[in-house]
Amino acid sequence: DLGGVSVGTETTEWKRAEGIVKELERQCSTPISRLREVVDAMAEELRVGLASEAKSNLLKMVISYVDTLPTGDEKGLFYALDLGGTNFRVLRVQLGGKEGRVIDKEFTEVTIPANLMVGTEKELFDYIASELAKFVTSEGKNFYLEPGRQRELGFTFSFPVHQTAIASGTLIKWSKGFSVSEMVGKDVVVALKEAMERQGLDMHVSALVNDTVGTLAGGRYRDEDVMIAVILGTGTNACYVEHADAIPKCQGLLPKSGYMVINTEWGNFWSSHLPVTEFDKALDAESINPGDHIFEKLISGMYLGEIVRRLLLKLAEDAALFGDNIPSRLREPYVLTTPNISAMHQDTSPDLKVVENTLKNVFGISHIPLRTRKLVVELCGIVAVRAARLAGAGIVGILKKLGRDVIGDTGKMRTVVAIDGGLYEHYSFFRQNMQSAVKELLGSEVSETVVLELSSDGSGIGATLLAASNSRYSKKS
Ligand code: GLC
Repeated sequence: DLGGVSVGTETTEWKRAEGIVKELERQCSTPISRLREVVDAMAEELRVGLASEAKSNLLKMVISYVDTLPTGDEKGLFYALDLGGTNFRVLRVQLGGKEGRVIDKEFTEVTIPANLMVGTEKELFDYIASELAKFVTSEGKNFYLEPGRQRELGFTFSFPVHQTAIASGTLIKWSKGFSVSEMVGKDVVVALKEAMERQGLDMHVSALVNDTVGTLAGGRYRDEDVMIAVILGTGTNACYVEHADAIPKCQGLLPKSGYMVINTEWGNFWSSHLPVTEFDKALDAESINPGDHIFEKLISGMYLGEIVRRLLLKLAEDAALFGDNIPSRLREPYVLTTPNISAMHQDTSPDLKVVENTLKNVFGISHIPLRTRKLVVELCGIVAVRAARLAGAGIVGILKKLGRDVIGDTGKMRTVVAIDGGLYEHYSFFRQNMQSAVKELLGSEVSETVVLELSSDGSGIGATLLAASNSRYSKKS
């Protein structure tokens, strides 16, 4: 009876698929004991990275040269340019000082053409400078530049940079799919200035900031207890306010404020305690930056969809999850995106219609039985929950470095973590899982003192604020 045989095979294959998912679940699990190991390893690497500039350090712990954070007194017209993810933004803000705060702001956002991400310096920077020039032309009467002044810009450049001053720094390496030739080791502000000159755009770059640092500055403008900023978007990273005397490599540089904002570049964190699977290893090996940014590859928006695609392919190959033929699009890297994962994971429609439609649109697979759709939801959950809990452990690692993971002698101190990025903003299951991991790690008493706050657009405003406080017209005494 052929029918019987086919049913029998199907059952075997389904069992195999379930077995693969179970094993995966085990390997990706993040029980609290494991998260604590990650917290400790993170706190330790933060310390190591502050001690010296050694090349071998996992965490670059970049000195940002930001040693004064916005106070509310910032005044005038300032621009920001934000390069570092899928989208590129330009922004202008009219700051009105204590009374006026943000009087007016305008921005535009464009997707970076994929070919520019892997092209030449000239192509990429000419493109952003020309978009900026266009935007400047549209400046209306509601914006006001004091006579005799040059327009000033805060440049948010969200890649690992070795900062040499508030408005200069050299690229250490690319991440997040960017790989523009011959830029490593170059000053990115010089690259921007040269491109602006070629466009005939007269503007002064007053601050070069990482997106985390921009987010911290933007957060601090609204709330003075902001001590940490985290990006959970295409990539992931965190910065925080460190005591100057806890930064051995700060040498000679002794900020009057007594503190310095440190860009951790935690995307490059690694520890043997991280739950890394063969799928993560393969993703890394085939990426544009193999061996680098492993923490980021487990957590951030650029990769979650790609991890799930790899799992689905494995299930298709080893357990005929989608029948005898393997849909060819299942073999295409990065076709499945994190917004897809978020939509499927949170599908509340009857019979998981969203899952069905997503698999159809992305891979061209149809007639997927309900139990298979359920399995896909489970996969999304395994990958996203692991990511969210690891991100939570990272945050607690920084709190621990600052001694704010416990209630100290001085009593309860409020600590605000400003968070930006599409992954955190738009994926609520991710957000909830991250929040609950932080709570679990801190315990209920301490977690009452730690506020995780969404700070969307924070980095753009933050860059204009830092351009203002480092303005060439208000030189610090
Ligand atoms: C990557 C970059 C880092 C940035 C982060 C978030 O990890 O290396 O500089 O802050 O992405 O955009």
